[in-house]
Amino acid sequence: MLGKLPHRTLQELAKKYGPIMSMRLGYVPTIVVSSPEAAKLFLKTHDTVFASRPKLQVSEYLSYGTKGMAFTEYGPYWRNVRKFCTHELLSVAKIDLFKTMRREQLESLVQSLMEAAKAEVVVDVSEKVFGLIEDMTYRMLFGRNKDDRFDIKSIVQETMSLAGAFNMADYVPFFAALDLQGLTRRFKETNKVLDKMLEIIIEEHIQEANSGQRSHRHELDFVDIMLSLMKKSTYTHDEQSYINDRTNVKAIILDMIAGAIDTSATAIEWVLSELLRHPRAMRQLQEELNSVVGMNQIRVEETDLAKLNYLDMVIKESLRLHPVATLLIPHESMEDIVIDEYYIPKKSRIIINCWALGRDPKVWSDNVEEFFPERFIGSNIDLRGRDFQLIPFGSGRRGCPGMHLGLTNIRLVVAQLVHCFHWELPDGMSTSDLDMSEIFGLTSPRAKHLLAVPTYRLRVQDF
Ligand code: HEM
Repeated sequence: MLGKLPHRTLQELAKKYGPIMSMRLGYVPTIVVSSPEAAKLFLKTHDTVFASRPKLQVSEYLSYGTKGMAFTEYGPYWRNVRKFCTHELLSVAKIDLFKTMRREQLESLVQSLMEAAKAEVVVDVSEKVFGLIEDMTYRMLFGRNKDDRFDIKSIVQETMSLAGAFNMADYVPFFAALDLQGLTRRFKETNKVLDKMLEIIIEEHIQEANSGQRSHRHELDFVDIMLSLMKKSTYTHDEQSYINDRTNVKAIILDMIAGAIDTSATAIEWVLSELLRHPRAMRQLQEELNSVVGMNQIRVEETDLAKLNYLDMVIKESLRLHPVATLLIPHESMEDIVIDEYYIPKKSRIIINCWALGRDPKVWSDNVEEFFPERFIGSNIDLRGRDFQLIPFGSGRRGCPGMHLGLTNIRLVVAQLVHCFHWELPDGMSTSDLDMSEIFGLTSPRAKHLLAVPTYRLRVQDF
């Protein structure tokens, strides 16, 4: 009954039943939150009560028995993993270390697009963007270029689709044995492929470390750091919170891969789609880039990003209409509580409909469906979790730890691609013909790849 696009179905239901709805999905009491004021009650006022995650069947298979971060219940293990990832990979200082790497990867994409522009051919923008973010993530995590042995992109996309699926076994446990939706079979298959890939990567890191071959790389990468931690247990305080064996390491790597690739790439393909549909906004952004970066300069530097105010509005507006995780990740209540006169029992599942928050006419006025970046002029609405009408990264204790990396990726890639090229839809397609439908999963990317024709627009050709 929730249909293929549950965020839309739930938004329709909320119009009738209100911003805090209770429903029973199988045996699980579920609360669906659909307005900014209500979201604030769950993610800020009572954040401590709702900071856990339900135990889902998917995380048994794809998170090695919930040993990662995203699907792990609130407690010392989760806290340690989160602290470790934030400190060792996702801090502003760490992300800054990878600036040159991002630059190299982006330059190589621009060069391939220059070739496409010369040949006047149609480019699969979605494919290119996913490939780029995949390469960048691979370099950050594993300290080397992606090789062709693993098809990470397909694995990640399957993982996101599985992780987002409404799995009947999560609501009526005895359905698990029947596998009516065929999900258990897919979980097992994906786990097998993933595990093989992670084992190879870990083994190679261990062998390199043992044979002293690491000298050709500048510093320890994320996997090296995790492996050394298995020996030292720096982040641990008690038995249960140990990151102490390979399955912990594999589950954490997997969360980082899944968290990083699909999210940034999906956000970028939506921003570029909206710009293609709105040539006026595209021109305005190019004018801003002309004045901040200049027509004689190919490279958009990361230091330029802070000066690109219109870009900021374009990204906010796109994330308002196309939040990457339409229903965030489900939360779970850790104790009985009364909110707004509703009694909510312990272990209720909380679904925050982020897609509906960005369309609430009470806070966004009438033209909610329109892409109109100028709505942010003179407004101080921020997307970092403070303003509940716009929380594409969630908010509170479970808010996204990769927000800085995600935002850096989106800003840099969009700025660079729009600075270097004019973009047109293929075969004389009109802007209104561009299909903007989404698919539902843990992330909601475009249903159909974005195709476009680039034309190089700058005065200089060399980086
Ligand atoms: C455009 C980029 C991104 C978007 C829109 C995004 C969005 C989100 C959202 C909505 C949540 C759930 C919040 C909640 O349940 O309340 C989340 C959680 C998470 N994100 Fe991101 N994310 C992005 C990038 C990243 C990156 C780059 C990483 C890591 C490399 C990452 C890792 C995670 C993890 C591990 C969690 C789970 C946190 C927890 O449960 O404690 N994300 N993200």
